[in-house]
Amino acid sequence: MDCNHDGCDHKHIVDHKHTIVVVDHNDDHRKQTFDALLSFYNILEFRNTNGLLDSLHKIRPAILLIDEAVPSHGAFELVRLLRLNPRTRRLPVIILLSSDSRQNILAASECGADGWLVKPVLRSDIIRKISDLLNSTVEEEWQKLPAVQFKALKGTVEVFNKLADSIANGEPIIYDDVGKACDPLIEAVNSDNFMGILNGVKNHDNYTYVHSLRVATMLSLFGHAIQLPVHEQKILTTGGLLHDIGKMYIPHSILNKPGKLDSSEFEVMKSHVTQTIKCLEKNDDLPNGIVTIAGQHHEKLDGTGYPFGLEGSKLNDLARMAAIVDIFSALTDRRVYKAPMAPEDALSVMINEMSRHIDIDLLGLFRQRFLDSLRTFD
Ligand SMILES: [Fe+2]
Ligand SMILES: [Fe+2]
Repeated sequence: MDCNHDGCDHKHIVDHKHTIVVVDHNDDHRKQTFDALLSFYNILEFRNTNGLLDSLHKIRPAILLIDEAVPSHGAFELVRLLRLNPRTRRLPVIILLSSDSRQNILAASECGADGWLVKPVLRSDIIRKISDLLNSTVEEEWQKLPAVQFKALKGTVEVFNKLADSIANGEPIIYDDVGKACDPLIEAVNSDNFMGILNGVKNHDNYTYVHSLRVATMLSLFGHAIQLPVHEQKILTTGGLLHDIGKMYIPHSILNKPGKLDSSEFEVMKSHVTQTIKCLEKNDDLPNGIVTIAGQHHEKLDGTGYPFGLEGSKLNDLARMAAIVDIFSALTDRRVYKAPMAPEDALSVMINEMSRHIDIDLLGLFRQRFLDSLRTFD
């Protein structure tokens, strides 16, 4: 849909993307920022601070990106004004500084900005900065949730970040850490106190984490609902959190490509499964079921899946459950290039179009147990 805000030149508001407001007088700089961010976010542009101040009651930015020297107020004065108004007091702000002089950095910090970058800014730096700020805003909101849900979200995001560091350094992951982070999640699921977890994670900007946590939560629910023994529910939950960690090896441009992957990009994407297996196998005390879940979650019953093309009875039961939840999650996840599909629609697609790929009896159980509870989140 088009945006007709006064003083704002760019359009294409898509509801499932965060909105970033860019306030910069320089047309070239504004265009560069716009081009860098367009795939991931809705962008609203303003040439001056007055245009922004006039429009702030009509828009809901996730972050403001303000050039230090923008007329009429300049960034520092603008942020001070925003901090005085109860409606805009907490708006996250990043200032684009002309230099990293001590005076500049002090001014950015004293006016109340949440962060700053020094021009010229690398595309990867601006994306990382925005992502980090979005995530700290989302994570702050988790404090309002019941304790068990807060612990589940906080513990899993921390362990996920730690996993990223271990993978980057070529170190084995510590299963004990993953297990401990998943215990509050299992407790929340078993006490039917988990919706805040699914809703709380949906605006997080690390998609691999969002997807992995949703898969872990729904697999945990699935295991609990069909009364699997406690140790299998734990394998499903921790396996759900770890099933895609090989995606940390996939280049950002492919992992977050806003659109369909071409065949060579898809081959790279598919390698996340073997990368995950390699990474998990570095750890001697990891339960086998976790490697099986991760290794088989893209296999299909008719043998057309990857990476091994396993068929029928070769497919493990827990991995069959993981394949169902993984597809269901992918269809109902919010992505930068698509709105989430309604749970009922996702299940219809799976029943009508994937019956040769997934275990239809297990899908029936999944549908029967969860349709009502899953309908309540969007
Ligand atoms: Fe996957
Ligand atoms: Fe997945």
